Amino acid sequence: MENLSQKVILITGSTDGLGKLVAQRLAAKGATLLLHGRSPDKGLATLDEIHRLANNVRAQYYNADLSSLKEVRELGEKIIADQKRLDVLINNAGIGGGPRGNSKRELSKDGIELRFAVNYLSHFLLTYQLLPLLRASAPSRIINVSSIGQYPLDFKNLMLEKKYESFRAYRQSKLAQIMFTMDLYVLLFACVVYKIPGLPYAAFF
Ligand SMILES: NC(=O)c1ccc[n+]([C@@H]2O[C@H](COP(=O)([O-])OP(=O)(O)OC[C@H]3O[C@@H](n4cnc5c(N)ncnc54)[C@H](OP(=O)(O)O)[C@@H]3O)[C@@H](O)[C@H]2O)c1
Repeated sequence: MENLSQKVILITGSTDGLGKLVAQRLAAKGATLLLHGRSPDKGLATLDEIHRLANNVRAQYYNADLSSLKEVRELGEKIIADQKRLDVLINNAGIGGGPRGNSKRELSKDGIELRFAVNYLSHFLLTYQLLPLLRASAPSRIINVSSIGQYPLDFKNLMLEKKYESFRAYRQSKLAQIMFTMDLYVLLFACVVYKIPGLPYAAFF
């Protein structure tokens, strides 16, 4: 892996699982880490662990419950206020499918089906908020952590008020996230400007 000492990387859901592991690996490569979680205690413990990994690790912690769009908005605003650049956004935080057959429907703080809200909507909002910062730091990257689990979206029953099953909720949120990733590709690819030897600038559409 390249040396990442000039890179600022935000990882949502970096207090556990994959996000935490990725944070540890990136810290070892010298990246400046913006950790995120929903529990201040767990967040500060993770920050402490990361700082103990190596000397001169640059990391800070942001707290936001992604089941609240208000908190997502505040998170985006805080990052924009604090950071001069953002090279990589890793949209990783997520709620899994739960036990198979689980029919206990859960809602976000805004009354939206929980997995749709946390796994998809929150990152949709955060990404669009951070786009100006990502663009100003180009070449930058957005990484959406997806899943092999996919389920078609029924727009007449998007909130799964009928036939709720948590694994289905998870899988539809992950398909929504993939569709969002494809939209981003169309939106952003048109804006990519490559520097090519012999040509002043070449833009690919
Ligand atoms: N594990 C798998 O087998 C698997 C397979 C395919 C895809 N994935 C995807 O990989 C990603 C990470 O999964 P994982 O297995 O590492 O999950 P995990 O161990 O459960 O960690 C999830 C992270 O997201 C955070 N999070 C959950 N709900 C949140 C909320 N409402 N607001 C803010 N943060 C929240 C968690 O915070 P806390 O620490 O407070 O819980 C934790 O930091 C997810 O997007 C998942 O869909 C996982």
